[in-house]
Amino acid sequence: MKILDLFGVDGYGVVVTGGASGIGLGYAEALASNGARVTLLDVDAERIDKETKRLSGEGFDIRGEVVDVTDHAALDAAIDDAARTYGKLDVVFANAGIDPGVGFVGDWVGEQRPRIAKGAIENYTDERWNRVIDINLNGIFATVRAAVRHMKPRKSGHIIVTSSLASTRVEPAIGAAYMAAKAGVVQFMRTVALEVAAYNITVNAIAPGYIVTNIGGGHAHDPEEQRAVARVIPSHRIGYPEDLYGLALFFASRASDYITGQEVIIDGGYGLGVAD
Ligand SMILES: NC(=O)c1ccc[n+]([C@@H]2O[C@H](COP(=O)([O-])OP(=O)(O)OC[C@H]3O[C@@H](n4cnc5c(N)ncnc54)[C@H](O)[C@@H]3O)[C@@H](O)[C@H]2O)c1
Repeated sequence: MKILDLFGVDGYGVVVTGGASGIGLGYAEALASNGARVTLLDVDAERIDKETKRLSGEGFDIRGEVVDVTDHAALDAAIDDAARTYGKLDVVFANAGIDPGVGFVGDWVGEQRPRIAKGAIENYTDERWNRVIDINLNGIFATVRAAVRHMKPRKSGHIIVTSSLASTRVEPAIGAAYMAAKAGVVQFMRTVALEVAAYNITVNAIAPGYIVTNIGGGHAHDPEEQRAVARVIPSHRIGYPEDLYGLALFFASRASDYITGQEVIIDGGYGLGVAD
């Protein structure tokens, strides 16, 4: 058995939501640079344009479409388009998500303890709560539903959802609705995995810890924040989308064919506690 027989994705038809930035863009690069044909779906038209041009320029098979995952009809149409283009859909990353900003638990990360007062639950608006649930949970539901519609008839496919360390751990620096949405994503992932296992479709979750991306206004690019967070991560470094390449290829390829309904945390040990 050669490595490419196990981990190869050459010619695969792939869709990534939230694919124009950060972790989704990383998934796209990991697969496209190994011969997969990848469609980026994202609400950010400028980034879609920039990244599809850049990756096409590198010789990768990339297309992009502007889609808001809260618009389920548009999302269905875009996934149908991708499947039509490739003649099949092998892999779907349900990844688009937002961090709504701190509250109601606390408002600071790093060496200081989170402060409790600002953004308390009494002041948390329906609008804020619903927006997060709409994108981070309902968007994942709609993406996975569209993927299954294409994969079930072919009795083949790999679906990967992006959850978070926040699916099990309360992270005061992130908006409170985020925790509920991510926990929901994981249990939803397990439920779908059980339903579609007989159709040779796997459904798994990648749960990143602290990864430098543009989420939450891009605060993770701040060197001071990076130093503070690296200090409390047991491996003493922050993560980058490249750190997810291996797991993305694993879950997308036949190497993981007999694994389904699982969440794998990838966080440099952040969720374990402090080692020194
Ligand atoms: N960065 C981290 O530390 C971290 C940790 C755990 C989980 N995650 C999760 O990873 C996923 C990707 O986030 P990221 O960190 O790469 O952030 P990012 O902001 O760099 O990328 C997210 C992408 O999703 C897109 N998007 C947002 N709302 C959308 C919508 N309604 N429809 C379509 N696209 C939309 C954005 O335009 C952006 O391009 C999210 O689900 C996030 O919750 C991130």
